[in-house]
Amino acid sequence: MSATSFVIFGATGDLAQRKLLPALYHLRGKGRLPPNMRIVGFSRTPHTDASYRDAMFDAVRATAGLQVTRAQWAAFARNLYYVPGDLDSFDRMLDLKARLELLEGKRRPADRLFYLSIAPGLYETAIASLGATGLAVEDTGWRRIVVEKPFGRDLETALRLNQVVSTVFHEKQVFRIDHYLGKETVQNLLVFRFANAIFEPLWNRNYVNNVQITVAETVTAGDRGAFYDQTGVVRDMVQNHLLQILALVAMEPPSTADAESLRNKKIDVLRAIRHWKPGQARQHAVLGQYNGYRREKGVAPDSATPTSVALRLYIDTWRWHGVPFYLRTGKALAQKLSEVVVQFTCPPHRMFSPESDECLGSNVLSLCLQPNEGAHLRFETKVPDQGMTTQPVDMEFHYQSAFKDRAIPEAYERLLQDALAGDASLFIRSDQIEESWRIVEPLLAPPGGPHGIPVRPYDQRSWGPDAAESLLEQDQRSWLLTCGKQG
Ligand code: BG6
Repeated sequence: MSATSFVIFGATGDLAQRKLLPALYHLRGKGRLPPNMRIVGFSRTPHTDASYRDAMFDAVRATAGLQVTRAQWAAFARNLYYVPGDLDSFDRMLDLKARLELLEGKRRPADRLFYLSIAPGLYETAIASLGATGLAVEDTGWRRIVVEKPFGRDLETALRLNQVVSTVFHEKQVFRIDHYLGKETVQNLLVFRFANAIFEPLWNRNYVNNVQITVAETVTAGDRGAFYDQTGVVRDMVQNHLLQILALVAMEPPSTADAESLRNKKIDVLRAIRHWKPGQARQHAVLGQYNGYRREKGVAPDSATPTSVALRLYIDTWRWHGVPFYLRTGKALAQKLSEVVVQFTCPPHRMFSPESDECLGSNVLSLCLQPNEGAHLRFETKVPDQGMTTQPVDMEFHYQSAFKDRAIPEAYERLLQDALAGDASLFIRSDQIEESWRIVEPLLAPPGGPHGIPVRPYDQRSWGPDAAESLLEQDQRSWLLTCGKQG
């Protein structure tokens, strides 16, 4: 019989409480975890197995709102263990090793997944300790490591981290997480494009006028001020989530859905994103900071950290040459909403309004990532009893009504399940990380410096600085949203 250990470094932290343990709990309930899987928490807080189980019972209910009774939790927590210790303590890491060996007993293979749910500053220490103690050696079974974002702070630190990881793990053992890839609707981008025959022939510069990706949040930096002020919107959202969505929207069709085919096509897109020359980024990017941000706890009173960004990117490939991709994201915006909008070209001949120069109803396809998950297709329709007057209408698909009995699972469920199964399709390969940092580096230049981009104030509950609108107006376009009402 085999054994699997799921080791959480940072086992008492926010991510473990809010996402990892609830996801594991749901997966256990659905019978999707390997038999004999033990979850072993490792953290500095002193706990016994029993006190850790109790503490997490309270935490998952309070932090994650998990609906679980004490009896249900007890059944799950039978497989939950705890080893107290510091990652840089060789002895404590040996305690962990001894504990894993004890739990595994003679069962083979004895597989281990290590989840880095710790401050990024500790990644290198954790990896070095796993190497030094032999915990990562694939002697009795596979060893895998899951690394949370942010993976580096810039290209240089990402390269270094990739290098450190590679001294202990082979690339196939490394699972760099971007939780957006675990979202059903983000995975559906692939299905939508490649399991249907009608969209792909149109999915190119001949029929697509522009693509817009909006990932808007209403929340402020809130109690994450200290972290956020060191990070900013570009590192927090663009380098990872937005570029991953863009890669899925723009990639060439892979021949199979296996991890390497998908990842090869994605990296091709990232590599084809046009480089900005020094100083050029400010013509294509607008950074913003919401009013009141500097008064948030942990934020410097003169902070120049951007909390919103709007961008225009070009992908220099045969398929996309000349088609702008507009991306925007930010905190304290008007609505929580993530949407991909594909605006198609205008009909070539204006048969119903020959006197007008205006493009009558270009078709718009919106992929609604969250909330109101689904898709809308906007097309022009004849208004009844009004001659040949036309009006755009939306044809809509909603997950909620189409799949009434199937709730959309949390992104982490799918990702943890895949990591345990060794399927890296939804994880980020090292070259993608590096390429993404290369793309966003010009946006990270100090705002006051020669190549910096000014950070403009915006009101909370707005759509960011006015300049974010002007970015599209320069191109005679405007931001479109059809998945929710624009505030
Ligand atoms: C995280 C960012 O990666 O994604 C957060 O660090 C952000 O700042 C979050 O709020 C958004 O995720 P979701 O799943 O709520 O859209």
